[in-house]
Amino acid sequence: MNQEEREKKARLKTTEILKRRLLRDAEKGGINSLTVGPPGAGKTNQLIHDCKNIFKHHPEELVFWWDNPESAAQYARKGIEYEIFVETDVTPIFRNLTEGGTIKKKYTVFNSFNDLINMDTGKGLAKPKQINAIYFKNKYSIIDFISHLRKTVGFQSVFIDEIECIIPLNPPKLPHEDVNIRYQKNIEFSETAKEARKDLVNIFGDTQDVADIDHRFKRKLNMIVYLSGSKVDKRSRVRESSVNNLPIGKGFVCYERSIFGKIRFDYYPALKPVFSVNL
Ligand SMILES: Nc1ncnc2c1ncn2[C@@H]1O[C@H](COP(=O)(O)OP(=O)(O)OP(=O)(O)O)[C@@H](O)[C@H]1O
Ligand SMILES: [Mg+2]
Repeated sequence: MNQEEREKKARLKTTEILKRRLLRDAEKGGINSLTVGPPGAGKTNQLIHDCKNIFKHHPEELVFWWDNPESAAQYARKGIEYEIFVETDVTPIFRNLTEGGTIKKKYTVFNSFNDLINMDTGKGLAKPKQINAIYFKNKYSIIDFISHLRKTVGFQSVFIDEIECIIPLNPPKLPHEDVNIRYQKNIEFSETAKEARKDLVNIFGDTQDVADIDHRFKRKLNMIVYLSGSKVDKRSRVRESSVNNLPIGKGFVCYERSIFGKIRFDYYPALKPVFSVNL
């Protein structure tokens, strides 16, 4: 069998791929998915489209979003409900990136993870059918938050835009950062992600290149979404040339490095003004 025939054999219909992406089967566990594409390939739009699908097909599921607090809040898009949650003791500054200066934004303060979602009741400040954008004092708190979600009932989803901010591969030595802590956190994140899947927590991340993130987490992935221009894993059944022929708004989902299929996603324009949340 040549590569083309192998690709044909492994290919699933779009509806089947979507069904798998939206499957919430406690026995199979959750999803660890990574969306890959060069700058501007549509990664954030694709994740937002996933959120929309969850709101529609699993209206009870809580959707959390982690964004790099230094950069633009990429979840603030047309047609998407969102609420900003900020950890207590931090005063956020909302910078207007479109016109300069700062803007006022409504936000909700939380003291503990239990405030967002209570371990026993599953209820809290976070609401379904909206993006619950969470800002922590320390970015690594997202790992502890995922551990918290593991103890709650039912499926929840965590979206991590630009996941290389949390688990970079071979992190460069920044003067203010301790490389050993980064190394430990990379391991901790991968282990948490592995267990989270079994405990009904879905993790959806995106990054520009699979090579930018820690290889341990790569092994915990059960789906990779390739957008046009991305470098395809050698073990994947989909060919790089097929990926590179994709128009914007389409992607290939590779499921556990064997079967794969095409998906499409809509465009959700950024809300004006574009802002960042600085802590
Ligand atoms: N489904 C789509 N249909 C048409 N155009 C799209 C679609 N999705 C994204 N785009 C275009 O691509 C641009 C970039 O999208 P997006 O911000 O999602 O990319 P990204 O990969 O997250 O970029 P970055 O690496 O800068 O974060 C959008 O502003 C829009 O112009
Ligand atoms: Mg983006």
